Amino acid sequence: YVIGVDLGTSAVKLLLVNKAGEVVHEVSKDYSLIQEKTGYSEQKPEDWVNQTILGIKELVESFDGNVSEIEGLSFSGQMHGLVLLDENNQVLRNAILWNDTRTTPQCQTIYNKVGKDKFIKITKNLALEGFTLPKILWVKENEPEIFEKAKTFVLPKDYVRYALTKQLHMDFSDAAGTSLLDVHAKKWSKEICDALDLDISICPPLVDSHAYVGDITDEVKEATSLPSGTKVFAGGADNACGAIGSGILSEGKTFASIGTSGVVLSYEPTGDKDYEGKVHYFNHGEEDAFYAMGVTLSAGHSLNWFKNTFAKELDFDTLLDGVGDVPAGSNGLLFTPYLVGERTPHADSQIRASFIGMDSSHGLNDFARAVLEGITFSLHESISIFRENGKVIDTIYSIGGGAKNAAWLQMQADIFNAKIVKLKSEQGPGMGAAMLAGFGVGWFSSLKECADAFLEDAQTFEPNKENVEKYQQLFPLYQ
Ligand code: XUL
Repeated sequence: YVIGVDLGTSAVKLLLVNKAGEVVHEVSKDYSLIQEKTGYSEQKPEDWVNQTILGIKELVESFDGNVSEIEGLSFSGQMHGLVLLDENNQVLRNAILWNDTRTTPQCQTIYNKVGKDKFIKITKNLALEGFTLPKILWVKENEPEIFEKAKTFVLPKDYVRYALTKQLHMDFSDAAGTSLLDVHAKKWSKEICDALDLDISICPPLVDSHAYVGDITDEVKEATSLPSGTKVFAGGADNACGAIGSGILSEGKTFASIGTSGVVLSYEPTGDKDYEGKVHYFNHGEEDAFYAMGVTLSAGHSLNWFKNTFAKELDFDTLLDGVGDVPAGSNGLLFTPYLVGERTPHADSQIRASFIGMDSSHGLNDFARAVLEGITFSLHESISIFRENGKVIDTIYSIGGGAKNAAWLQMQADIFNAKIVKLKSEQGPGMGAAMLAGFGVGWFSSLKECADAFLEDAQTFEPNKENVEKYQQLFPLYQ
């Protein structure tokens, strides 16, 4: 058995997975967000550690198989969050998370000092509020007494891994989201550090996601009931692990994930493509591979907001059933899902959502369908950027909450103009983390071999020609 630890924003989810890729047991432990001011979003690294250790203990103690057969564990982590450590690896302040937007001025500083074109060339991404480097600069400017003590920075799951092993590392897939990595060359950028007057020694040692970094400490063994010698593998960014966990491991493979936020992610075999920062371009959890990714900040969040604001008394299934009664195009109503700003393609934390084209014939079902279409159009913007840059995307794996409703899956096929595939059992990033551990302990000779053994397609949705044409007319209007 192996354990996949998925350190999310609201909870840590732990999966115990056997050699056939079956989840034999799972546990989830939550923690809270600290939002002291508008735009602030923080968490306590100790909460992640305590809940992970408690979660592993529960997972191990309630497992009725042979505990000594648990061979290893690995991680998937929420990306970009800043954890600052002093010379004794003690946490210096709360972690500042990926969804914290206080750092707009620092993003400007980065462009001013490094040069925008040069910055995009090195990191293959824009400077965005959510990424780690602007957070480092924010602490340096606003809390100099804390920054003075900072010896190293890590990302959320790196800190939890440190707590389990006392070894400090960062893997390439997560390092890619710091804005300090030369993504193509896979090394920390001295040029960016120098331009911003940062000592490059603040960056931790880099490893591959499947790298073995050590065994759990005796203390953790006591606290969790894991067998001694349980091996720990570095793990990856949640999107990289989501890619592994849904088999996005060769050219052209793409997923669309609709959770609170929405992500379209497509495999890139090399770091050579140049999207000029229009979409994210990060290192994959598979060695020496990459992926391009577009993000819609408010995907499932838009639907939740809509339901809670206008249809509180309905359950989701009833609300979504009504959507099937409305034709493609929502009778002329359009929704743009920018409730909390947007990443792709606008990279604008101030942009806001809208309903456009309301008339007095529109009812709740039209609005609900417009919300689903708006979310899906927003994801289609990323797919369009991929295609404009020569990518062939004819099949898309749909994962997350948006993959639960048949009408929405068909809408994705029609708006994306691609075959939509649903996996038989979809466990997302936690499964990717377990696969990294399974590959790490030697069950398979590659992640691809592991994916072939673990993952199976279940259902497909073909695009409907008439609706495809309708949506192709509407998309420029949406844009
Ligand atoms: C990716 C991003 C989010 C977080 C959520 O760039 O910010 O997907 O990783 O956990």
